[in-house]
Amino acid sequence: MHHFEYRDDELFCEQVPLAKIAAEVGTPVYVYSHATLERHYKVFDNALGANKHIVCYSVKANSNLAVLRTLVAMGAGVDTVSRGEIFRALKVGADPKKIVFSGVGKREDEIVYGLEQGILAFNVESTSELHAIERVAARLGKRAPISLRVNPDVDAETHPYISTGLKKNKFGIGVAEARKTFIDASRMKHIEVVGIDCHIGSQLTKTSPFKDAIARLGELTRSLVKEGVTIRYVDIGGGLGIPYNQEDPPSPAEYGKAIEEAMAAFTGLDVTLICEPGRVIVGNAGVLMTRTLYLKQGEIKNFVIVDAAMNDLIRPAFYDSYHAIWPVKKQSGPQTYVADVVGPICETGDFLARDRALGQKPAEGDLLVLMSAGAYGFTMSSNYNTRQRAAEVMVKGSEYAVVRRREELEDMIKNESVPSFVG
Ligand code: LLP
Repeated sequence: MHHFEYRDDELFCEQVPLAKIAAEVGTPVYVYSHATLERHYKVFDNALGANKHIVCYSVKANSNLAVLRTLVAMGAGVDTVSRGEIFRALKVGADPKKIVFSGVGKREDEIVYGLEQGILAFNVESTSELHAIERVAARLGKRAPISLRVNPDVDAETHPYISTGLKKNKFGIGVAEARKTFIDASRMKHIEVVGIDCHIGSQLTKTSPFKDAIARLGELTRSLVKEGVTIRYVDIGGGLGIPYNQEDPPSPAEYGKAIEEAMAAFTGLDVTLICEPGRVIVGNAGVLMTRTLYLKQGEIKNFVIVDAAMNDLIRPAFYDSYHAIWPVKKQSGPQTYVADVVGPICETGDFLARDRALGQKPAEGDLLVLMSAGAYGFTMSSNYNTRQRAAEVMVKGSEYAVVRRREELEDMIKNESVPSFVG
């Protein structure tokens, strides 16, 4: 459910015509719907209602300050993976006691930062990292709150690049080693074990892998309790999928019910559930709007060349992922025009859609919208080809604001210098 809809064949975000945003802000531009963000957060949070829980929105999906503020203002915590993401979250008033810090390669300065800010937990992914955190905490005279990220060895049945819970993946610590590491950690003077964590992958379209993972965490937790290790937080990561095309992921309500059932594995233990959703909150709350530059008829294919490229939205190139393409001005008529929608970058991988039925043939200058681009859209964008990164706009009702201005040429070179020895 989102708030991008046609009115008299004209595409609106909430009460604002997208053509108006294109005229005033230019393209390519990401447009986010505030009402959709609020709705998704509320629906997700309510779905977990039965469990004592914290929703830690996964900042990597969309880290724009206005997006973060919208969620934090509704009480969201955050799942972060870098000092930069913690910095952003704090900027918009996130409660440090609702910040978790994940990732396999935390640098020392990042550990220091997390400790100084008093975050809820470091999600620790290896014994080496555990020792590094203990060293830094000892130096600062602090106790570091940690959860161990367990690799439960379940198949998330998603794209291999975003599947993380298998033994062959670099993430987390295998169950047997985790048990020992938990016991060691609980004896460390500068470490406080607070929780158990996992994240098995992203864009999951079934509930069973979540249930299997929680069952394994439950078993492990029970065996740890016998060893005197206290677990207060059970962090099950993110990963709930969204419909991009034909997928039929569980609704948040179905997901919530499955999680509640699976959490029976913790009955009798006083634990708070943590979820780290990213995509399901922001994915369908954002679109990427682009303008058609040229139409080109190749020998065997039609090409629609647009002003957005793989540097703006890398998902199609990287994961071969599907984003629906809607015209800003709807034309009637049969779906006859099939084309590759491509950007200006000199790479065959620079496509936004391949062999796509676009309805009527767009005209040069027409606006198109790539749907479901709110998650892992702008955050994965780059300056490749020295292209300025897109502007970002947030719409709320009949108002809108630029929440990140389009980069200027000077922005792209401001950190560079030419030393005198270069001549
Ligand atoms: N927690 C951890 C530890 C994660 O690594 C991730 C995502 C999440 C939570 C949020 O997962 P979500 O609810 O969004 O599925 N760039 C890829 C997705 C990469 C996901 C990485 N980890 C894409 O565009 O599909």
